[in-house]
Amino acid sequence: MYAALRSALFLLPPETAHAVALAGLRVRARVLGTAEPPRVAPVTVMGLQFANRVGLAAGFDKDGDCIDGLGSLGFGFVEVGTVTPRLQPGNPGPRLFRLPGQRALINRMGFNNAGVEAMVERLSRRKYGGILGVNIGKNLDTPVAEAERDYLACLERVYPFADYIAVNLSSPNTPGLRELQFGTYLESLLDALGERRRALVARWGKTVPLAVKIAPDLDDAELDEIGRILVAKGVDAVIATNTTVSREGVAGVRHSREAGGLSGAPLLARSTQVVRHLTSEFGAQLPVIAVGGITCGDDACAKLAAGAVLVQLYTGFIYRGPALVGEALAATEAARQVAKSADV
Ligand SMILES: Cc1cc2nc3c(=O)[nH]c(=O)nc-3n(C[C@H](O)[C@H](O)[C@H](O)COP(=O)(O)O)c2cc1C
Repeated sequence: MYAALRSALFLLPPETAHAVALAGLRVRARVLGTAEPPRVAPVTVMGLQFANRVGLAAGFDKDGDCIDGLGSLGFGFVEVGTVTPRLQPGNPGPRLFRLPGQRALINRMGFNNAGVEAMVERLSRRKYGGILGVNIGKNLDTPVAEAERDYLACLERVYPFADYIAVNLSSPNTPGLRELQFGTYLESLLDALGERRRALVARWGKTVPLAVKIAPDLDDAELDEIGRILVAKGVDAVIATNTTVSREGVAGVRHSREAGGLSGAPLLARSTQVVRHLTSEFGAQLPVIAVGGITCGDDACAKLAAGAVLVQLYTGFIYRGPALVGEALAATEAARQVAKSADV
């Protein structure tokens, strides 16, 4: 069924297709209401109870205006954003490209979003009973040296509505953003976020976990340094990974030379390697939410086998539709059965 719908959607320019799909999902939620996420291999991560381990990655619902529709597809968690303090248009189009033969996308959206005030109003109306993550970033015109201010402003506004907050330090489409993954930038940003969170815990009477989203384009030494800092600063989880600036696996393909981040199948191996490295170095001290290149149930299994506790979908979901959610759910249940029998 989705194959037919996809053929129609793929006749449209990618961003138009995306807008049509979101509109359809909003109608679906209005007609069918919002179902609770199915309980499949439930798990507690960051102190939160996830009905299942399959989530929607950030960037699909940037403004949080389709949470209930997306939630009705079976996702155990939905991450909205990236949201910035102020509305911004993002990069000029075209800025999203399909590489269908590779089940991949290249995007240089540049955090187009309606700003945090508009999002907060929508978050407060959500009916979805799964876990809601809010992914936060900085405005394009905020200098990297002042980025802290933007992250704090977003943290403050979304805190009462979010189940967890993802700090996005890894989009390749906001110049300088990825510098925040390193050394003193990272330490002082996390110190500031930690301090503000302590005040927010007191104000709202709840602790909202913080996760940090990282790039796949980091070597082992960089991953080790980042991991050490995240653990030392008490970050609750790491989301690995964002899109890649590498073009490995797509050389010579139409659109492959477009600037931006590559996602989908060509990202799977590298992104899973990052998960494996982090879990082997930091174990339970740093739970890993794995995202990057999942296009079938076996890919979701591979992420769990690499040590991830949760998985997220994006590009695979564009190509495969809701069937991929079902496949990933079945795979996570199968992986849990295998782990259980190994324990006995
Ligand atoms: C069009 C598009 C927009 C995205 N926007 C965001 C974003 O705003 N914030 C973010 O953290 N990640 C964003 N991502 C990255 C995805 O969340 C995910 O980390 C990445 O695409 C790898 O997963 P995938 O291979 O399953 O797509 C975006 C990805 C795409 C394709």
